Amino acid sequence: MTRTVQVRACANVALVKYWGKSAGDGNRPATGSLSIGLEDLVTRTEVGIIDAAEDDVAINGQTSGDAVARVRLFLEEVRRTHHLDDHFRVRSVNDFPTGAGLASSASGFAALALGLNRVAALGLIPEDIARLARRGSGSAARSVYGGFVELVNDTDPFARQLAPAAHWPLAVVVAVTSEQAKSVSSSEGMKRTALTSSFYDTWLATHPADMDTARSAIAARDFAALAEVSEQSCLKMHATMMTSHPAILYWNGATMEVIQAISAMRRVGIPAFFTIDAGPQVKIVCSPESADQVAGEVAGIAGVSRLIRTRLGGEPQVSETP
Ligand code: PMV
Repeated sequence: MTRTVQVRACANVALVKYWGKSAGDGNRPATGSLSIGLEDLVTRTEVGIIDAAEDDVAINGQTSGDAVARVRLFLEEVRRTHHLDDHFRVRSVNDFPTGAGLASSASGFAALALGLNRVAALGLIPEDIARLARRGSGSAARSVYGGFVELVNDTDPFARQLAPAAHWPLAVVVAVTSEQAKSVSSSEGMKRTALTSSFYDTWLATHPADMDTARSAIAARDFAALAEVSEQSCLKMHATMMTSHPAILYWNGATMEVIQAISAMRRVGIPAFFTIDAGPQVKIVCSPESADQVAGEVAGIAGVSRLIRTRLGGEPQVSETP
């Protein structure tokens, strides 16, 4: 092996969601999206160039399975689009459940894109690294940065940082309600939703206004406005999924219990709101001062198997051993 690059990249959670792709190739989201980086949900990836006829990939110690197959396809695509002959050794480990709606593909493909850019000397600027990561997973484009990040719905969508985490140091409590991998993958779910949900057109039509509202709320650090638009975007996304044929239901009973608990807390003035991705886990965004109270309340709900607490952050790190 010639050189090895180590990357630390973090998961992110979208406050304004993306769900649905544009036609054609390049894995282009049909909408923009806006996320926050999660400092303590980390993927560590090592990428090296090897003198071999094929790539050598292991994810969480596994050398086969869906996640490994996706990485292999991604490496093929990178070779094709960047005219490379190299093969790669990839070792990637997540310190949180994989494929369970905790954005492991986001941090995973962001780490890989950052590592490949360095090890294969692609010389890409951050927006182009984000475009590369997007080809692996739409949400991965956002994990190329930390803090508050927007995926811009361009002809070749890219991500950019809206503000660093220090702009508004919020806290996040993740209520894990199942450690199982999700039953319907995001890609399959998005296809089904676009083809069969009668709510899908409304989802697309109302999305740009949600992006504007969220951008303004972040600029003004307006918690109530960010809470309102984030919960709306999450519930709209799940409503379009649920109205697909066959229905896509990622929630379990505990997911709903946590939603109710957070709504009740906000009604009495506690700054906390929920968001949920393609899985049953609930991510609660709150002020650092209210995080203990939120965690205490949610930990008592039957079906919440564990909590992951983190602050905003997620600035990736790339280092190299000669
Ligand atoms: O990154 P993908 O293609 O697996 O899609 C993720 C979609 C959601 O997590 C549900 C929403 C989002 O914007 O992250």
